[in-house]
Amino acid sequence: MFSEVEKKINQLSQQIEEHNYNYYVLAKPTISDFEFDKLLEELIKNEKEHPEFLKPNSPSQRVGGQITKEFKTVKHKYPMLSLGNTYSEIDLADFDERIKKGLHNDYEYVCELKYDGVAIGLTYKNGILIQAVTRGDGEKGDDVTTNVKTIKSIPLKLHGTDYPEEFEIRGEIFMPRKVFDEINNEREEIGDQLLANPRNAAAGTLKMQDSSVVAKRNLDCCLYAVLGENLPYNTHYDSLMAAKAWGFKISNYMEKVADSAGILKFINHWDKERNNLAFDIDGVVLKINSFEQQRILGFTAKSPRWAISYKFKTQRVSTILESIVYQVGRTGAITPVANLKPVLLAGTTVKRASLHNADIIEKLDVRLGDTVFVEKGGEIIPKIIGVDETMRHSNSHKVTYITHCPECATALVRDEAQANHYCPNELGCPPQVKGKIEHFVSRKALNIDSLGSETIAQLYDAGLIKNIADLYQLKKEDLLKLDRMAEKSANNLLAGLEASKNIPFESVLYGIGIRHIGETTAKKIAYYFKNIVALQNATLEQLLEVGDIGEKTAQTIIAYFADQRCVEIIEKLKSFGLRFQLSEEQLVNTSNKLKDLTFVISGTFSKFSRDDLKKTIEQNGGKNVASISGKTSYLIAGDNMGPEKLKKAEKLAVKIISEDDLINMIE
Ligand code: IVH
Repeated sequence: MFSEVEKKINQLSQQIEEHNYNYYVLAKPTISDFEFDKLLEELIKNEKEHPEFLKPNSPSQRVGGQITKEFKTVKHKYPMLSLGNTYSEIDLADFDERIKKGLHNDYEYVCELKYDGVAIGLTYKNGILIQAVTRGDGEKGDDVTTNVKTIKSIPLKLHGTDYPEEFEIRGEIFMPRKVFDEINNEREEIGDQLLANPRNAAAGTLKMQDSSVVAKRNLDCCLYAVLGENLPYNTHYDSLMAAKAWGFKISNYMEKVADSAGILKFINHWDKERNNLAFDIDGVVLKINSFEQQRILGFTAKSPRWAISYKFKTQRVSTILESIVYQVGRTGAITPVANLKPVLLAGTTVKRASLHNADIIEKLDVRLGDTVFVEKGGEIIPKIIGVDETMRHSNSHKVTYITHCPECATALVRDEAQANHYCPNELGCPPQVKGKIEHFVSRKALNIDSLGSETIAQLYDAGLIKNIADLYQLKKEDLLKLDRMAEKSANNLLAGLEASKNIPFESVLYGIGIRHIGETTAKKIAYYFKNIVALQNATLEQLLEVGDIGEKTAQTIIAYFADQRCVEIIEKLKSFGLRFQLSEEQLVNTSNKLKDLTFVISGTFSKFSRDDLKKTIEQNGGKNVASISGKTSYLIAGDNMGPEKLKKAEKLAVKIISEDDLINMIE
């Protein structure tokens, strides 16, 4: 018999997963974000009050929180092979010829997009996701289940009932371009090195230790193969259609074709259209549709004989390099940009290309007036990949890289680890100052949305603001003097500034824009030091004690507070009433009593939900890890604890305690 609460939890879980499916798989949401958040909140509240009904596949688990210290290596049930590559029509004709010889009767191909991401194998038992493993070396991969559960287009529980009792489904995890751009914008803001491309970003994200960070990165997953014993389908296409009905995201761009003419049509279409997709592809994949025919064709040592990939050619043209300009980014990084004689490439007119940094210019030895080759690969921004030296003018000479900032004339610096030169005049270089102010007012910082980048530029150019503290001295009459600033906008702006005085310490800390301090790190630091004075006085050793802060970040923090100008800005902000300490409410429940201790929790608890227990551990300075090792301080045992964990803890002599013991430790 189900109790009322259990029924409610099940009903909410089902409703939420249905909405996740509508939003992330079908791209057709039927409720607002607000309504969705309400449902999720209600589920979490119920699960907190009745942790005995919290299931590992509950949609509340998609927000993450579990830490994986080391990813377990798992042997693949079916080896994860790769595909043979082709690059030309001739290669394709050869492939088709081999198929014809191998089969002797009619056949059909399925054409698919070749997603440029990370291969994943998902195992489901009785309709529940039980394991997610990366490709690894094809024989063995890494168990990344905890992280994969945060990907909202991957069903934790399947729809309907007609799925095999146990099967594996394979596909590609990728980072949509929009998400990639957002992350890089944010990294640029805090002066972190940019992610190279969406594929690397997806691979890196999947191997992160903290699943709540993975959850925020909005990965997506498209599935392209169903594997299992005695599957009740005759064709690859039908198996994917069945998987679609079970709730998986299957490509909308698959096509069945009968011959090489059909294949070429598909390839040519996507070669042109690929820039309009929301994600990166690097080619197409062709597969024989019939499972029986796949079986007849079989495998070579490395790849199936019944499938092949076709890689798109990168499009390349040549044009003249007319000039090089140097841009100063919001963090002071200098990017050399090539101005080119306009040329048509992959459907767009290209006038500019990035030259990245001084090393690249040196390596390519590009010179003004040179004829250069420009390529558009998977990336949207074209790049110069070489020089046509046969066309070089005899009087050309090497490019001398700039030594001073084109915006403020400060001498540029370059540190060993960084490829780019940068302007160190953080507090005086116009694009950097404007960038800092834009960061300060951004949504995750002080959230002053009534102040856009155009207004910031106007205020700066008019000499009304020189740093973030000056914002709070703005007067209505100053604002009204600006172009396009009406009474209403001025009022909104002032109200936005006033409201920002209630923004919590961790967001203010993020907002002041110390290099390398992102949102998550700011939060950790805020909870650790509790107020700005303690942080200001912290030694290198103390900073390194905050989890996840490395030497580089710690040094940056010290350098920041050693700069009198930074301290003055903080003092001013304080005098205007911004929050530079945790609130009373935040302070209750926090301590350093669990410092240096690591905890594994297992089972369900009566006084905490699992998430609350983890949060309590963190707020008291402890660390959560997913699996037991010799270094684990305590295993907190709940009801229905996994027997394996218990055995391992006993073997490694890890202390086993109850939730009450933990409460005693922190009281
Ligand atoms: S089928 C037995 N289909 O390309 C071969 N692979 O070398 C199973 N990929 O690592 C692969 N899109 O990660 C297949 N529609 C698609 C694909 C695809 C991308 C990746 C896959 C694999 C590599 C092939």
